Amino acid sequence: MAKRRIVLLGPPGAGKGTQAKRLVETTGLTHLSTGDILRDEVAHGTDLGNQAKAYMDRGDLVPDQLIIDMIRGRIETADGFILDGFPRTVAQAEALEKITPLDVVINIDLSRDEVIRRLSARRVCRSCGRIYNLLSNPPQVAGKCDVCGGELYQRDDDRPEVIKNRYDVYMASTAPLIKFYQDRGILVSTDGRRPTDEVFAQITAVISA
Ligand code: AP5
Repeated sequence: MAKRRIVLLGPPGAGKGTQAKRLVETTGLTHLSTGDILRDEVAHGTDLGNQAKAYMDRGDLVPDQLIIDMIRGRIETADGFILDGFPRTVAQAEALEKITPLDVVINIDLSRDEVIRRLSARRVCRSCGRIYNLLSNPPQVAGKCDVCGGELYQRDDDRPEVIKNRYDVYMASTAPLIKFYQDRGILVSTDGRRPTDEVFAQITAVISA
């Protein structure tokens, strides 16, 4: 596989986590999701989790320096990575450039209406983190994970008013990264409305080239 330092970019609900979890199975690369790391810190009541929680509950971004300090060591020690949810601001992207070069940034496009529809129907397994959707990918037994039988839950920030703020924050702070990486010649865009398998096939082709 040619590309080992990969960023998945896109609005909330575009499918970054869904695709990253599948790519980990086929590539063996390390999945680094700042959202998953932060939720784990919140669940364990750490200092970082306590600082981050209020931002996350509102759908606002956690301050750049907290995020950069949290992710730097994980990037430096990974033997190839898929970054999901980082960078999310130009300041984070500039910090990332100082930590490591990137091979490709894959931007998964999705409209605001589809973001709201999808995230309102998302459910996640509390035990293994598998992602479901009550509309497009429901579990076989309501409320239970197909793989491990764990309980499915709805994320605190998947409430309609928070989803709308997350999308606005994405447009203001993260969408400028599309041009940032276009200017560096490493951006590839994919249409996130297509079925999961089709998006996965395109991403696989891009990172294998
Ligand atoms: P984070 O957890 O990163 O949330 P996000 O970027 O808003 O992304 P999501 O996890 O909501 O969506 P996704 O693109 O992974 O979609 P998924 O695959 O689940 O961040 C949460 C919070 O943490 C932030 O708001 C912020 O406070 C903080 N934070 C995190 N990183 C930060 C940073 N770098 N700086 C500052 N703050 C930070 O899919 C969504 C749904 O759609 C699922 O139900 C799935 O089954 C379904 N689906 C996926 N693909 C398809 C498809 N092709 N067709 C149909 N349905 C699909």
